[in-house]
Amino acid sequence: MVLITGGAGYIGTHTLIELANAGYNFIVYDNLSNSSRESLSRAEQIIKKDITFIEGDIRDSEKLDSIFREYKIDSVIHFAGLKAVGESVQKPLDYYDNNISGTVKLLESMNKVNCKKIIFSSSATVYGDPKVVPITEESDVGVGLTNPYGRSKYFIEEILKDLYRSDSSWKIIILRYFNPVGAHSSGLIGEDPNGVPNNLMPYITQVAVGKLKYLNVFGDDYPTDDGTGVRDYIHVVDLANGHLKALEYIDRLKNIEIFNLGTGVGYSVLDMISAFKKASGKEIEYKIAPRRDGDIAACYADSTYATDRLKWIAKRDIEDMCRESWNWQSKNPNGYSK
Ligand code: NAD
Ligand code: WQD
Repeated sequence: MVLITGGAGYIGTHTLIELANAGYNFIVYDNLSNSSRESLSRAEQIIKKDITFIEGDIRDSEKLDSIFREYKIDSVIHFAGLKAVGESVQKPLDYYDNNISGTVKLLESMNKVNCKKIIFSSSATVYGDPKVVPITEESDVGVGLTNPYGRSKYFIEEILKDLYRSDSSWKIIILRYFNPVGAHSSGLIGEDPNGVPNNLMPYITQVAVGKLKYLNVFGDDYPTDDGTGVRDYIHVVDLANGHLKALEYIDRLKNIEIFNLGTGVGYSVLDMISAFKKASGKEIEYKIAPRRDGDIAACYADSTYATDRLKWIAKRDIEDMCRESWNWQSKNPNGYSK
């Protein structure tokens, strides 16, 4: 049995489908602070099975302890966390409490019942402004981080390393995601941000569907081919499959291991606008705006380590990502709320 914390969220719902298709049993544990039950009922439609869902917070040790006592949980995929970069600057303590204290409480509950396998959602943000691209797992981390969200991911990675140093019977995989976009091909589940989106793809899809007027392109004077920021966008279904591969691999771990999950290809903001237009037939109005604080010029992954060890590779291209983001948004203009 796998416990999926934050399993009602964007990446969690896509991952549970991969797990269900591979025959894993799992429980979703989520406080619904950034999601809804609707995402899980949609996922149930896709997998044609009921999902065991427990509403709760990872900071609630009593509840977690009772779950670990009641169910024979073999491993945990830990998605639960707050993830809005700008909000983390305004509310650092909320981010440290939710992400760091929450993770520590989860690890304590696991330890009590000797459940010692965990896959943790980290982020390319831990690399800060990389000196060299593509970025390998050996690149510096924790240097030049510009916000509490990024620092919370970096600190949690360090906590996991300390835990492993203290007890090497733990099996810990850290996955550093690049920029997840796209949606399940059914169009039933996808990314459903609260309010005005912070991230590029949901902003583009909301312009396309008419909810927002135009996209602000944050800076056109970066040292990139067209001057706009370059990122490694990865289809969320490929990312979800990376968790399945990690789960299949976890018993063979000889050390704590870290994997980049990206495609290895960088696209600029203007590339994304034109790829989206091609995939959706929709014109995306945009204006060049000043750079956004804390942004970097270019960030893309070297994911060969994941390919070598996990036998994982991102299969979906930019057209798939744009088409399926649009399929989700056009079928659900208001996300999960009708
Ligand atoms: P999401 O917000 O859609 O999902 C996170 C889920 O965790 C939500 O359902 C939320 O309700 C739940 N949650 C938050 N705090 C909780 C708590 N204290 N107890 C229980 N549940 C809680 O986000 P996502 O995009 O699916 O991201 C999943 C994980 O991946 C997060 O840890 C995020 O930081 C990380 N990540 C995301 C991205 C991205 O761009 N989406 C990139 C890198 C890393
Ligand atoms: C991508 C590019 C923007 C919005 C963030 C987090 C990171 C990870 C993924 C969780 C950049 C440009 C964006 C807009 C724009 N999340 N842009 N107009 O900043 O690479 O990463 O999400 O872990 O930690 O920092 O992603 O989608 O916000 O931006 O021009 O309205 O699009 O400047 O070049 P980012 P993003």
